[in-house]
Amino acid sequence: MPKAVRYDGFGGVDVLRVDEVERPAPGSGQVLVRVKAAGINPGEALIRTGALAEMFPSTFPSGQGSDLAGVVEEVGPGVAGHAPGDEVIGFSNNRASHAELVLVEADDLTHKPAEVPWEVAGGLYVVGVTAWGAVHSVHPGEGETVVVSGAAGGVGSLAVQLARRTGATVIGLAGEGNHAWLRSHGVIPVAYGDGVADRIRAAAPDGVDAFVDTHGDGYVELALALGVPVERIDTIADYAAAAKYGVRTDGGTAAGPGAEVLAELARLIAAGQLELPVANVYPLSEVRAAYTELERRHTRGKIVLRP
Ligand SMILES: NC(=O)c1ccc[n+]([C@@H]2O[C@H](COP(=O)([O-])OP(=O)(O)OC[C@H]3O[C@@H](n4cnc5c(N)ncnc54)[C@H](OP(=O)(O)O)[C@@H]3O)[C@@H](O)[C@H]2O)c1
Repeated sequence: MPKAVRYDGFGGVDVLRVDEVERPAPGSGQVLVRVKAAGINPGEALIRTGALAEMFPSTFPSGQGSDLAGVVEEVGPGVAGHAPGDEVIGFSNNRASHAELVLVEADDLTHKPAEVPWEVAGGLYVVGVTAWGAVHSVHPGEGETVVVSGAAGGVGSLAVQLARRTGATVIGLAGEGNHAWLRSHGVIPVAYGDGVADRIRAAAPDGVDAFVDTHGDGYVELALALGVPVERIDTIADYAAAAKYGVRTDGGTAAGPGAEVLAELARLIAAGQLELPVANVYPLSEVRAAYTELERRHTRGKIVLRP
């Protein structure tokens, strides 16, 4: 029987376990995918603790995971364009991808270019569409300066590169250990912490035009203090500040159809024009260790499970 991550109630990483489950059967329009890699995300950890129970209710036993890449195992009735053996990238909206086999709606899959490694493909969905949506939301352009907080995290590492592709000057807020990586992608690194506003002003003498906050915890206020207009501030992590000040909260869903954005991001990665760093890879059986590392919140890029 195939294995899948399950948990029976809200809690810390210790509620997570790997169970043997029934083999899923694809219904109409569905594809059964043998998962090769599946990214993990902070939102899943929040859902597991119960912190988001009102916004995203849970039923138990719960599965987990949106991101996935793998090989088509079986297709259901009415599926065109996917066949057994195809290598695909996609997502599940049913908290189900941390598993050996997952059912996916055919429209939520795209072809995996051979040049994109499994770990990168499997970690691409949530951070990719979110970075895409956030950058489009504040639409930086040539001659402008945009600041990205959490610049080396899963979303941030892609957001800084997508922002650079617009021709804008990009300032990335990150710990010292990530500054060389940011520089190598044409991003001006600035250390966060005390004095960050002055360091940004020094790095952007003509001012800051747009701000993408992927961390929360005061960066919306910082953006406002820097004089960025509310309509050009996007936070994906601080909904209280967004409600208070009226800044944007565009992320994954603002990007349009997920599979189309995934296809475009995968094309850029295959062409060597975009990098999604993979910080660590864990076997499915070590899902607790994977989330323990994620919850330290100093990941560069993605942590990925390999079933
Ligand atoms: N709304 C949506 O659609 C959506 C989608 C995806 C994610 N999110 C949310 O967005 C946030 C980021 O997700 P993620 O996957 O990118 O997380 P992540 O990969 O875990 O982020 C880790 C990064 O956070 C940085 N960081 C830690 N403390 C910081 C600080 N005080 N200031 C600036 N950066 C700091 C770390 O940088 P250093 O290592 O350099 O310290 C590290 O690179 C999470 O809250 C997540 O829930 C929302």
